[in-house]
Amino acid sequence: MKTILCIGAGYVGGPTMAMIAKKCPGYKITVADINPARIAAWQSEELPIYEPGLLELVKECRGKNLFFSTDVAAGIREADIIFVSVNTPTKTFGEGAGMAADLQYWEKVAREILANSDRDKIVVEKSTLPVRTAEAIARILNVPGSKVRFEILSNPEFLAEGTAIEDLEKPDRVLIGGNQTTEAGRRAVEELVAVYAHWVPRERILTTNVWSSELSKLVANAFLAQRISSVNSISALAEATEADVEEVARAIGMDSRIGPKFLRASVGFGGSCFQKDILNLVYICRHYGLHEVADYWHSVVKINDYQKSRFVGRILASMFNTIVGKRIAVFGFAFKANTGDTRETPAIAVCRKLLEERAALVVTDPAALPNAKKDLADFADRVAFEPDPYKAAAGAHALVFVTEWPQYQKLDFQRLYDSMAKPAFLFDGRNFLDHEKLFEIGFDVHPIGKPSLEHK
Ligand code: UDX
Ligand code: UDX
Repeated sequence: MKTILCIGAGYVGGPTMAMIAKKCPGYKITVADINPARIAAWQSEELPIYEPGLLELVKECRGKNLFFSTDVAAGIREADIIFVSVNTPTKTFGEGAGMAADLQYWEKVAREILANSDRDKIVVEKSTLPVRTAEAIARILNVPGSKVRFEILSNPEFLAEGTAIEDLEKPDRVLIGGNQTTEAGRRAVEELVAVYAHWVPRERILTTNVWSSELSKLVANAFLAQRISSVNSISALAEATEADVEEVARAIGMDSRIGPKFLRASVGFGGSCFQKDILNLVYICRHYGLHEVADYWHSVVKINDYQKSRFVGRILASMFNTIVGKRIAVFGFAFKANTGDTRETPAIAVCRKLLEERAALVVTDPAALPNAKKDLADFADRVAFEPDPYKAAAGAHALVFVTEWPQYQKLDFQRLYDSMAKPAFLFDGRNFLDHEKLFEIGFDVHPIGKPSLEHK
């Protein structure tokens, strides 16, 4: 039986290993993490992350060929293949602060692998790492004169939160980067290909050199984010004119060269990857003196910041230029629907700006309130957290929709309207509600990138 270890039991490591366990019954999979509370949660009925279909999948394999543990060292000793899926946040200090990736966890893990290995192993980078990190890792692991050899592969994860299980089950492609110039390198690549080939058609398993693989992950996220910033920039123009950004998106999306996906105008993109990966890309470009290229990609992040502040600007302007002391109910805090994850969610910037304008905030969300409380801890005395959307709306001057939770479309808006102060404002940061109907109920409706519906 082949043994796989994954270090890092997060949004990526947990679901990915659960899928491998299900599809590869002949492999023993262990997921290890330094955080005992996280591991305990993975062993319980309350998983540490919310992801549709994940609990069922974990329960199917847990205790059979899927195990969770805090003993990283023991896991390393018995593993043939080690995935590393620890977080690589943006650096907050020193050189490259706010741009470069913080690789301290990765390096620590590499040294732990070295200390606990007495035979050859394959190490797979699952974390998104800036290009050429594998080279550094290889130098730490492959100590001159040592009998133990490590092959380093890059296997970036393309799953999106909220659809992780689907994405893992039917990936558009699996990307594996390895050293194609040596026999040992090619063998390592083949070993990892064999894992995925249990359920992914061969033609969807792409092998490249390590640098291409690492760079592809950054570039894929940069291109996806760029589409959103592009359409969001047009939403600003649409609001200033008589155009409707959804009509524009539909019209351009039907051009098969452009395609329809990822053109939904919004309050801005969030999530742990887009901003971090673009900033990495920008940092790398600057390192190589490619300042024009760096500026080009940096503008994608800048438009995203602009979109968030523009949204709050519109709230302020519509509500007579003052929201001091006004109760504003924020509907949805997660960075997208079907996740409790709030990393880089646009809700953070929106709430902070509303609080700076001295609004009285109440935040509601079906899955993200525990994280929201941490994100707004410094404003604790001025924000209420309310799981019940009807209680959140009671007495409010405005409803601000930041996350497109499907259950919000089924709310009793008449009941919400009746409980609010008048005029009752509604800001749809996701263009996912029935604006005509809301207007008929009596709301003043402000969507993204299209004319407002106001009772004047
Ligand atoms: C992943 C990738 O690793 C990241 O590079 C990518 O950009 C986003 O997705 P994610 O799974 O979302 O990160 O991160 P997180 O949920 O924070 O999980 C990382 C886990 O690693 C945590 O549970 C943390 O406790 C663990 N960890 C961290 C270790 O076990 N050891 C360490 O030294 C550091
Ligand atoms: C993303 C990538 O899609 C995935 O391939 C990669 O592995 C990790 O980063 P994720 O961050 O989980 O996944 O979510 P995604 O669905 O890409 O959404 C990112 C953000 O963009 C969300 O805030 C979402 O609401 C927003 N978005 C998405 C828009 O505003 N408009 C769109 O049209 C699409």
